[in-house]
Amino acid sequence: MSSQPSDATPARVEHQHTDKGYVPVYTTAVVEQPWAAYTAVDHDVWTQLFERQRTLLAGRASEAFLVAQDAMGMTPDAIPKFSELNNILQRTTGWTLVGVEGLLPELTFFDHLANRRFPVTWWIRKPEQLDYLAEPDLFHDLFGHVPLLMNPVFADYMAAYGRGGVKAHGIGPEALVNLTRLYWYTVEFGLIRDADGLRIYGSGIVSSKGESIYSLESPAPNRIGFDLERIMRTRYRIDTYQKTYFVIDSFEQLMQATEPDFRPIYARLADEPSHPAGTVLESDRVFHRGTGEGWAGDADF
Ligand code: PHE
Ligand code: CO
Repeated sequence: MSSQPSDATPARVEHQHTDKGYVPVYTTAVVEQPWAAYTAVDHDVWTQLFERQRTLLAGRASEAFLVAQDAMGMTPDAIPKFSELNNILQRTTGWTLVGVEGLLPELTFFDHLANRRFPVTWWIRKPEQLDYLAEPDLFHDLFGHVPLLMNPVFADYMAAYGRGGVKAHGIGPEALVNLTRLYWYTVEFGLIRDADGLRIYGSGIVSSKGESIYSLESPAPNRIGFDLERIMRTRYRIDTYQKTYFVIDSFEQLMQATEPDFRPIYARLADEPSHPAGTVLESDRVFHRGTGEGWAGDADF
């Protein structure tokens, strides 16, 4: 398969210098998915990634994820049309997919979620990026995030998270850091105890070949029971596999644990130090204590 550049190119507006280096800044507007502009190469990237992940995820992804993905009618045949997925999604849980150019400013993102709109990056990675790319693309967003929006409990959790985000944004940057860690360790990198054992539900894992295996089977990372405040205090890795995964018993547990007002929690945590990503605490419910083998020694966020 040749890797000629796609006709479909995202509109990067400029690069902005931040504490994380130069990052692309995209328009924050909602854009129409330019479906007709996808090339044969784009569709083929979708097909390859879809088939590879579905094979890997049998027996690894949570039952809820696999059932939801099938129910949506996502197939490996071609890049799905947001408009078609929206028909079923709107009827099932009231969510709507909206096309975006890439990562959004936090408040814009929270506002979408609070209103049951899920922003999906419309462009897909190049064939030479099948295994890794640094920013979310269509495969991560659509294959990874969207299926569980069909699940009524998870769908409610995501909207509640959006409202919580708007609120945390009004409280201050430290509250936002705490809340973002919750998103990271649940929505992006969460594990769940299914009837048949430990399974994946986090989007960052289900959309990654390497991490779908690593998160469940490697002896290196910690696997620790979900604990809201513990998670809010825990730093994370953005450039390597996680050092710690947090395990929920059910989406209902997630919903219940996050129902209380977070204000007093944010206030309490403001005076507490954060934990490094790989730390195991006395108070942890440890399912697996990681060996730490192969961990990068540099700092985590
Ligand atoms: N209960 C949280 C608050 O008061 C909001 C929230 C709900 C955050 C669900 C995350 C997930 O801020
Ligand atoms: Co994501």
